[in-house]
Amino acid sequence: LRELMKVRNIDTVWFGKCVLEPWYYSPYPTHIIRFRKIYICEFCFNYFDSERSFFRHMIRCNVRHPPGIEIYQEDNLSIFEVDGENSKEYCQNLFLLSKLFLDHKSLTLNTELFLFYILCENDNFGCHIAGYFSKEKHPTEKFNLACILVLPQFQRKGYGKLLISLSYELSKIEKKIGSPEKPLSDLGLITYRNYWSIILVNILKDYIGQSMSLKELSKITYFIPEEIQSTLQWLDLIYFSKPNYFLNLENSQIIKKYTKKFKNTKFINSKLLKWVPYD
Ligand code: COA
Ligand code: NA
Repeated sequence: LRELMKVRNIDTVWFGKCVLEPWYYSPYPTHIIRFRKIYICEFCFNYFDSERSFFRHMIRCNVRHPPGIEIYQEDNLSIFEVDGENSKEYCQNLFLLSKLFLDHKSLTLNTELFLFYILCENDNFGCHIAGYFSKEKHPTEKFNLACILVLPQFQRKGYGKLLISLSYELSKIEKKIGSPEKPLSDLGLITYRNYWSIILVNILKDYIGQSMSLKELSKITYFIPEEIQSTLQWLDLIYFSKPNYFLNLENSQIIKKYTKKFKNTKFINSKLLKWVPYD
């Protein structure tokens, strides 16, 4: 039965003006998905089984941005912090929406334990969600991000890295090194590896011929030492000779590649971030 549950149960999703094709199963109520086609409000994430009820909703719904405080704004982008306890229905609807693109066991409906950071593209009509991540209010271990999603129509524009950049900026303010919750999906791992590589190479390129410990790198980046080490190994920038690791920065192709990527990546500008840790 559990295997059956995982089978994709919806063929088409109308989301705002977009038509999306789900990747995975999501536990929407069975009567809503009986036509395997659903309509979702892009502002409150309420869902409907017919165009008629969807349009009726759109006339009445006056939500134009996520129900929380705006912690970041730059150009046409905003990020809102939404409390999963105060905005339970919104966050549960977001859970159902994200489940369509996440094959993640640990995704949970207990939204009250999480904060949600919602990235929006803004226009005259409103703040349109592009992606988000969730963060435990009282994280177990060093987790600074529980779940990350960029909606398919917004993927590969750098928003994944921008959200990851925010997760580490929040860790800096909390003064705690951080790490994403495991397991990562394939796309999650690719995106994280890419992000860690971009940041690490950008620091290390100025240290050629000098020594630096994983601990020092961790202090600067707020990445955990294990993930720094595995990234440098993956990049082939580190070699092990008992009992120490040595940096091997001779691989200039790698340095060139990630220096270029650094220039093309959009990061959070910490000066524009208005955020205090949850207590
Ligand atoms: N094929 C190959 N590489 C891909 C890829 C694809 N389909 N999609 C992304 N990548 C790689 C690329 O290296 C890309 O960087 P580049 O465009 O500079 O080459 C990088 O991953 C993604 O960068 P970015 O644009 O910052 O990320 P994104 O906005 O596309 O978001 C995720 C990344 C993981 C958040 C998004 O793919 C997603 O939401 N996936 C579904 C949910 C999920 O798996 N979440 C992670 C759970 S742990
Ligand atoms: Na993107």
